[in-house]
Amino acid sequence: MMTTAAEGVVFKFPSFKIIKTANRSLPNRQSIRFGFRRFSSSSSSSLSVVSASASSSIVNDYDPKLEPVSLGHATRPHFPILHQEVNGSKLIYLDNAATSQKPTAVLKALQNYYEAYNSNVHRGIHSLSAKATNEYELARKKLATFINASDSSEIVFTRNATEAINLVAYSWGLSNLNPDDEIVVTIAEHHSAIVPWQIVAQKTGAILKFVNLTPDEVPDTAQLKEMLSRKTKLVVIHHISNMLASVLPIAEIIEWSHNIGAKVLVDACQSVPHMVVDVRSLNADFLVASSHKMCGPTGVGFLYGKSELLSAMSPFLGGGEMISDVYLDHSTYAEPPSRFEAGTPAIGEAIGLGAAIDYLSGIGMQKIHDYEVELSNYLYESLLSVPGIRIYGPVPSQTVPRAALCSFNIDDIHPTDIATFLDQQHGVAIRSGHHCAQPLHRYLGVNASARASLHFYNTKEDVDNFVLALKDTVSFFSSFK
Ligand SMILES: Cc1ncc(COP(=O)(O)O)c(C=O)c1O
Repeated sequence: MMTTAAEGVVFKFPSFKIIKTANRSLPNRQSIRFGFRRFSSSSSSSLSVVSASASSSIVNDYDPKLEPVSLGHATRPHFPILHQEVNGSKLIYLDNAATSQKPTAVLKALQNYYEAYNSNVHRGIHSLSAKATNEYELARKKLATFINASDSSEIVFTRNATEAINLVAYSWGLSNLNPDDEIVVTIAEHHSAIVPWQIVAQKTGAILKFVNLTPDEVPDTAQLKEMLSRKTKLVVIHHISNMLASVLPIAEIIEWSHNIGAKVLVDACQSVPHMVVDVRSLNADFLVASSHKMCGPTGVGFLYGKSELLSAMSPFLGGGEMISDVYLDHSTYAEPPSRFEAGTPAIGEAIGLGAAIDYLSGIGMQKIHDYEVELSNYLYESLLSVPGIRIYGPVPSQTVPRAALCSFNIDDIHPTDIATFLDQQHGVAIRSGHHCAQPLHRYLGVNASARASLHFYNTKEDVDNFVLALKDTVSFFSSFK
């Protein structure tokens, strides 16, 4: 028995020896047409990584003419990490809701920064510092354009989405919430969108109100609408659920909330990487996402905030970069976004995020979304053929969209056993645990689930091979019953 610290899930792997034969019965997983190189499994290491010379032939820029089969096939060659074997099987990476892979263009942008102009931003007058500052600020402009913010000063770079939510909680929440004010949240929020508000509620006396699910396992927007009152000061809501795959009508929710004078913070971690998100047409007050889920580096995320809100907020952290003048007894603060970026930021990472945005924009977010809708339906339908499966979230239809991910359980098999077997026997990377959504799992009556989540570089072959591997997993564990 083992406990994984991150997920807090009890890992219970049965005491038997896994005999590595199952993957041999699977058909070839990938056509060699699109730049995939097959690597023989190395004798000692369980990972065999593509060599530098192999990756040099990788096409960086998306070219629609190179799209003979699907967006997945056309873009896979841009992601060196996908071209390797894991535990003797070709890697099938289906953990994109946790973090996405990075295209060569992003890796090169990071390498170029560190090789050619690594320097601190906003401080130096020398050429390297000027170049670093320009590129860092250019990344902010790219992000502003990507989500259609009015101005790049509405984009604050943070470490990740979690920090962006905490920034709003501390800088806006502590000064704008009073005893008995209400914060409306759903039970399907990621812990990052629940815990900061619990802390703020404890400090201010504000009250957290939770929206439940409908019988279709979608956050109940009718209940949310009913819950809104003059007491509501803030609605904190995800755009796409990282567990249920449900997509919420954010523009309507924002309109209802504004009608009663409440502000809305949108957790767009699972939407910004997969579809067009336009903060102005949504009329969002605050919106957050993380670079690492949108093909960019780890260590950087962002807060979008309407300029009038950011300008009225006090700093979150104090230190260098965020000040105007410092005296011994007090300091004055810079205008946003600098006011909220204390200390040396993640410079190379923000520049890498800029490269990721160029890459995604080169493909087109609408194109990515359309392809992922197709993959999403294919994943859902294919999984239904697995014996004993229970998929969480809504049944997809013309009117009910689902994101390209499925959280599920299978009768009498622990999700961590499923994920372990898939990894060890088939090189399939999925996630198991509570996906930082414990209240939601509790509501659904389970401690944990398995989750397969796709991105535009996945293919229907990935889904086919995952489902075959999952069926093999079920028959393996069933043989012990
Ligand atoms: C819906 C949602 N919100 C927030 C987060 C937190 O993102 P990060 O850990 O990058 O801060 C995640 C990450 O899984 C998420 O899926």
